[in-house]
Order: sequence, then structure tokens, then C-alpha cells
Amino acid sequence: MAPSDKAQTRPAAATAPNDLESYWLPFTPNRSFKRAPRMIVRAKDMHYYTADNRAVLDGTAGLWCTNAGHNRDPIVAAIKRAAEELDYSPAFQFAHPAAFELASRIAALAPGDLNRVFFCNSGSEAVDTALKIALAYHNVRGEGGRTRLIGRERGYHGVGFGGISVGGIVNNRKFFGSLLNGVDHLPATYSREHQAFTKGEPAWGAHFADELERIVALHDASTIAAVIVEPMAGSTGVLPAPQGYLQRLRAICDRHGILLIFDEVITGFGRLGYAFAAERYGVVPDLITFAKGVTSGAVPMGGVIARDGIYEAFMRGPEHAIELFHGYTYSAHPLACAAGLATLELYRDEKLFARAKALEPRFAESVMTLKGLPGVLDIRTVGLAAGIDLASRPGAPGLRAYQTMERAFQDEGVMIRIAGETIALSPPLIVTEAQIDQIIDKVGRAIRAVA
Ligand SMILES: Cc1ncc(COP(=O)(O)O)c(C=O)c1O
Repeated sequence: MAPSDKAQTRPAAATAPNDLESYWLPFTPNRSFKRAPRMIVRAKDMHYYTADNRAVLDGTAGLWCTNAGHNRDPIVAAIKRAAEELDYSPAFQFAHPAAFELASRIAALAPGDLNRVFFCNSGSEAVDTALKIALAYHNVRGEGGRTRLIGRERGYHGVGFGGISVGGIVNNRKFFGSLLNGVDHLPATYSREHQAFTKGEPAWGAHFADELERIVALHDASTIAAVIVEPMAGSTGVLPAPQGYLQRLRAICDRHGILLIFDEVITGFGRLGYAFAAERYGVVPDLITFAKGVTSGAVPMGGVIARDGIYEAFMRGPEHAIELFHGYTYSAHPLACAAGLATLELYRDEKLFARAKALEPRFAESVMTLKGLPGVLDIRTVGLAAGIDLASRPGAPGLRAYQTMERAFQDEGVMIRIAGETIALSPPLIVTEAQIDQIIDKVGRAIRAVA
């Protein structure tokens, strides 16, 4: 069939596809989805809408990204304007003004001397970019022997080869060969025995950071380039950093000349009540990765923020020569920059980071009412994020959470995220107190219904 014939057989509107087979869904059980599709056709503010016009309350900010809520008018208008003015300009050797404007606005939100912004298109690209900048930074300074990268068990850093290598989720790694070599992992910071049903950062667990000293002793600091952690491990089930843990990691990295990377793809742009989690914890990392919330999910965008000294280390050699051999065709895409600028303005005008901070105690209290429901083993909260661990059904790990998610969507009209046997909640930062209670009521009913 010629491509043009093929196009003619497609339905005009995408609300009711007549073929579910061609699309291979990511991180989704395809066969089960295609038997009972959870199809979404539009969204506004706190709600998604299905093809039969059922409203579904968004308990997850899409995939941790629509922090300003859905289809916000200023963001939509900015994207439309940008599409009419400049569809694309080359990212290499040329640039457009909005890229500089967005970079300086992001730098202004970042702590300390994190002032240099490198753009890409996703969290995974941001992570690989940060790891490459760390390696190259040591290289240009004459410490090219620093090649090891240290991640953490239960860490999620996207799906690029760099990200899965430093990541610590078994299923994301085991199918994909030998990964990067020279990678080591810190232990995860979670212990149900010591931390169950904690609101905010657990008091127990800072000592897990000291494992970095053991890793340094094993490999020698002169071989280690960087440590990467999420300030709050999100995708693995919302594991807030124990009190004092990130400060200890910073001190050990300083002692040994190791770069500290915070992967803030989830925690950036308000999730923990601050522009970046680094601010919440008073710890200044060397590199921050971001994505998701930078455009409130409206156009794909990610990036890395680097300290001045890192950027300056590259600014040597002949002036006509490229300093960092890295970049993407769509780095700082005009539509993404327009969406980013409009999103940051909304965050500022509606004080959404402060709003998340103010709502945190109310949110935590509401989520904790799920304690005692059938199969609920632990609940953790931090900022406007919560993880609810469920007991696995015998021989079927993940099934109970999956059934809860299906039930919540189909019968209760609430979207939740699941990771293994954990429910993750992370509503848009515009959520009201009443909507928090609605989300929790709906989730509670779904948990009971599948018990
Ligand atoms: C901490 C962290 N890093 C990286 C990523 C990858 O982002 P993306 O899916 O945009 O590649 C994610 C996605 O959830 C994340 O949570």
C-alpha cells in the first residue's frame, strides 16, 4: 500500500481509533491495555476527560509533569503564538531569543551558582547529558581518570543507557545487556521497619550516605566522576531522603572532588514546595537535571543546570572551536521554550510552589487516612507526593496495584500512578483541599473494592 493510500484509511478524528494494534505502548502491559483501553481525549485544569465525556480527576499530574494543571490558557496561547512565528531554528551554531530568556529564568530559580542551562527534550536525555558533562568536565581539567559513575539502588534516571546504568530498578536493567561499565551503586534509603508511615523526611537513615565513603575507599576517589541521586526517589515509589542524608552526601563528595548530581526531573518545579528540592534541603549540587514540570508537560523539554565553574572549565581552546561535543536537534525547541516561559510565569503569578508547600501538611494528613485499609503496608508523603505500598497477591506481584489503578480510573474517576505494588500520588499543584479529599476518597474506595 502506498503511504497516501494508508493515510486515507485512517479515521479523521482520533477519539475512537479503529486499530489498536500498531501502537506499541511504553511501560504498559500492551495486551491487557488493548483489551480494555484507558483512552483520554482532552483535559482541563485538574481533570482528564474520556471519549464518553467522563471527567477523571488527575491524581498524578499526568506523569509527574503537569504541575500547573492541564491546558492552561496562557501556556496554550504561547505555544500557538510560537508555532506561527518560528517553527524551528537550528540548535547548533544558531539560536533564538526565547532560549536565552528561558535559560536565565531557570538559572534564577536554581540555587547558588547553578547558572548555566543546557537544553534537551526529556528527563532521560537530561540524565545522559549530566553524566556526559561530568565525565567531560574532569577530562578537560586533566583528571580524565575520573570515569566511574555512582548511582543508587531503587534510583530511576530514565531509560537511556547512562540512566539505566546508574539507575537501580532491576527490570529496567536486566534485559539490556552489560550497560555502562565502571558504575557502582549506593544502597536505597528505605527501611519499612524504621520508617513506616512517615510524613516528610524520615528521621532514620542518614547513615546510608556513609556508604559512599566505602565505595570511595574501594575504587579510590581519583577514579570517580560523579554521584547521581534523586532528592526524593519518585518512580520507585516515593522515597523521601532521610533527614541529613543529602547533606552528608554533599560533604563526602566535597572531600573527594566528586561531582554531585541531583536528578530533579520529578522534584523540580514545585513538587516538594520549592523551585528545586536542592532549596528545600539547603544543599547545592554541582548539576541539576530537570524536565517534566518545566513546561507543565505541554511540550517535551528537559535540561541540565550546571555551576558556573563547570561551564567555565569548558571555555578554553580556540574561540571558533566547539567546547562540548554534545547536543540534540531539538535542544531549546522554540515551542518548548515558549511553553516553558509561559509555565514559569504561571508558577510565579499563582505562587504555585508556595501553594504546594502550604498544602503539604493537609495532603499528608489526608493520605494517611488510608492507613489500615486492606493490604496497605506503608504510606510515605513529602511535598505533594505520596507512595502507598500494597501487599502483593500470592504469586502475582504488581497485580493488586494494577487492579486498583484500573478500578480507580474506570469506576472512581481518578487517575493514579502505579510502580510495582506502590500507588504514587502527585496531583497538579493547583489542587484544592476539597480535591485532595476527593482523590483520597476515590483511592480508598478502589483499594477496598479490589481487596
Ligand atoms: C528522576 C527521573 N529522572 C529521569 C526521568 C526520565 O524522564 P523521561 O521519561 O522524560 O525521559 C524520570 C521520569 O519519570 C525521573 O523520574
